[in-house]
This record gives sequence, structure tokens and C-alpha cells, in this order.
Amino acid sequence: MANSEGLHEREALLSPETIDRHRALTSLQEELEAADWYDQRVDATSDSELGAVLAHNRDEEKEHAMMLLEWLRRHDPVLDRHMRTDLFTDGPLTEIEEQSGGEGGSEGRGSEGGGQGSLGLGGLREQ
Ligand SMILES: [Fe+2]
Repeated sequence: MANSEGLHEREALLSPETIDRHRALTSLQEELEAADWYDQRVDATSDSELGAVLAHNRDEEKEHAMMLLEWLRRHDPVLDRHMRTDLFTDGPLTEIEEQSGGEGGSEGRGSEGGGQGSLGLGGLREQ
């Protein structure tokens, strides 16, 4: 597979689910980097019309990134759980975990599940 250069283990050892998550993560990274590049170009250009086009394109990259993040959430139950706890909150970021009663090492608690493309993480969890 041509896209395997970002993998850190031999592809033959990896599940299709892990490879698909890798694809999504790589794409998410690319979309966010593209938004960063557009940000810089918007700042740098002295042509306001070009700046508006670049800003429009930048904001579409953010939409693309969120589509990928949502796909990842649906395919990673632990990520889903952390997103439900940590996102769209207002308090100090370092206190969210305490307020939710969670602790960093409790990956195994709760099994709300996420995607049907189960990662098989449940088997790794200490119940
Ligand atoms: Fe994009």
C-alpha cells in the first residue's frame, strides 16, 4: 500500500480498523495543517480579495477536519468518552477531569461504546 509510510509497524501486523484510523488521523492532521497554512497566508497577503478567498478556503478545511474527527469518535470508544467529558466545557482545562470524577488511568471504566467498528479495546481494559 502506498500510504503505509506513516505506519510505525509492519502493515501485515495491523488490523484494518487500525489502518483506517491511521488514514483518518493522517487526513485530520493534513486538514488542520492546511488551515494553519491558510491562516498564515491570510495574514501575509496585502490583497484583501485574495485574503477573503483564502479565509473561505481555510474555514472549509476546518469543516473537513471536524468530519474526520467525528468519524474517529465513532470508531474509538475511549476517544468518544474523553470528547464527551472534555469538549464544550468552560472551566479551567486542567480541572475538567476532576470535575467529571474521572481519572487519567481509568481507561477501562464505562463501556459506552462508540463505533461498530469496535477496536477490541474492551478486551484490553481492566474492568
Ligand atoms: Fe480539506
